[in-house]
Amino acid sequence: MCGIVGIIGNKPVAPLLVDALKRLEYRGYDSAGVATLMDGKLDRRRAEGKLSNLETELSHHPLDGNVGIGHTRWATHGAPTQNNAHPHFCEGVAVVHNGIIENFSEIRDQLKARGAVISTETDTEVIAQLLASLIRNGKAPKEAMAATLKLIRGAYALAVMFEGLDGEIIGARNGPPLAVGFGDGEMFLGSDAIALSPFTDDISYLEDGDWAVVNRDGVEIHDTDGNIVHRTRIKASSVHAQVDKGNHRHFMEKEIYEQPEVVSHTLAHYLDFTAGKVRGIASEIDFSSVEALKIAACGTAYYAGQIGKYWLERYARLPVEIDVASEFRYREMPLPGNQAALFVSQSGETADTLASLRYCKEHGLKIGSIVNVPESTIARESDVVFPILAGPEIGVASTKAFTCQLATFAALTIAAGRARGTLIADEETNMVRALSEVPRIASSVLNQIQPPLETLSRDLARYHHVLYLGRGTNYTLAMEGALKLKEISYIHAEGYAAGELKHGPIALIDENMPVIVIAPSDRHFEKTVSNMQEVAARGGRIIFVTDEKGAAASDLETMATIVLPDVDELLMPLIFSLPIQLIAYYTAVFMGTDVDQPRNLAKSVTVE
Ligand code: F6R
Repeated sequence: MCGIVGIIGNKPVAPLLVDALKRLEYRGYDSAGVATLMDGKLDRRRAEGKLSNLETELSHHPLDGNVGIGHTRWATHGAPTQNNAHPHFCEGVAVVHNGIIENFSEIRDQLKARGAVISTETDTEVIAQLLASLIRNGKAPKEAMAATLKLIRGAYALAVMFEGLDGEIIGARNGPPLAVGFGDGEMFLGSDAIALSPFTDDISYLEDGDWAVVNRDGVEIHDTDGNIVHRTRIKASSVHAQVDKGNHRHFMEKEIYEQPEVVSHTLAHYLDFTAGKVRGIASEIDFSSVEALKIAACGTAYYAGQIGKYWLERYARLPVEIDVASEFRYREMPLPGNQAALFVSQSGETADTLASLRYCKEHGLKIGSIVNVPESTIARESDVVFPILAGPEIGVASTKAFTCQLATFAALTIAAGRARGTLIADEETNMVRALSEVPRIASSVLNQIQPPLETLSRDLARYHHVLYLGRGTNYTLAMEGALKLKEISYIHAEGYAAGELKHGPIALIDENMPVIVIAPSDRHFEKTVSNMQEVAARGGRIIFVTDEKGAAASDLETMATIVLPDVDELLMPLIFSLPIQLIAYYTAVFMGTDVDQPRNLAKSVTVE
């Protein structure tokens, strides 16, 4: 979950490394560092905390050199101190690493027994130590690299420099992604295409087990067995994407307000609004013959999958089993019959989701993925890719990717319903027409609800605990709302199925725990209102998120009532996501937290 970069350039690379690291800071921001090679000698600058601290350090102590590597860290092993910051040095070897070396303590003990002095708490240091000891014993850097990769176990993307090898960086990949970038007399390595976007869009992704010797003339890629292999060069699509905040205070705010536009792109990709039909691309899984569908994902993407499950089961009568990917991958579930599997991931790199995908692939399932990054590993390893077209999502808390994932699921549901004969042509047309309204409604909702939500969030910021309740797809939104609130405001929040309230959580209700009830006037409305009565009867403070009909039908006293327009039931999750996201956003703003880069988190989770 760290970000790594390497540059073999024609001018001093430290500022370029920092520029690339800025684009990778979403992968972790506990510390950052760069190292360069100058006249055959290594030097480095490192700083605890955000990249801006490294920039300050570099402004006081500049670093020269046309070849360098850089790192932004999400701490796994060892506190986020300057000493644990990458690049790690050992006797003329410099290493940056994204991933986890699982057998590091065993290797560290062996190294110590041979007299090595270990100077950090990180797992990465053993790589530098192993390389240095092999070189000391007479191996050339390439041989040392090949031998080291055979000794380490775990997940890694690596970039390594060796003193004396001025124009060369060796990269390696097993798990987390690593891209080689081709420039004009310059070469690059990076955790993703966005990192390399200021320099090149001509990219080759290493495959698992590959290691690559990069120099000014190009790259020589070796597979696990040492054979020289060719990896396809592609034009990276994300390269020209805009990655600034525009007029917004935070990326998260910008991404929330972008939703009408990006959801409209997603819907237009899958739906033909003029014909009132779903496009062929949404039918690339043969839903007519599939007996059941498995879905695995993490976090917010999991919640999108759960709403997808509700829709696919209800409208297409397709049995769907969904799991969080970290459980799915180890459940050793039987996968009999004719099943397909769908994996949902904004980044397309989440380690647990990727492992679940590989499990299903080994069992012969047709693999589909709903991803935002088309060059990602999950996309590349899928039989069918359903892009969500959200554009780069920089805020760590996922917002626009979620609604674009929902838009994609809505299209797949219609395609599946038609293929399975559970939806007739008129129903398809009605659903497509209803969905075509989402961008317009979302845009007016965003304009309308901002003032009441800002006022509400100022109040919420005073509480330590918040409970979210809902039924059906609003149960999922309750969990998504709680996740959003806790991750960016650090207020403890739980999302519950409203019907479960009386099975335990009702014990928590008092005036100190606001209860956000998401209850538009759908088929669950009356039952959820009964649950609200139960909260009110116990002195609970209710925040009622509903629609016009729902507001008219309830006379309960609330702390606040947020009223959205009445919409078709299929559209509700897409529209009701908006107040949920904004409540978390404004609350975090009032709390003064680091909204785009909340503590302890990273945008792309490439470790278990
Ligand atoms: C929460 C959030 C995370 C991600 C999760 C999966 O706001 O962003 O829960 O949804 O880490 O990430 P992807 O979608 O990249 O697989």
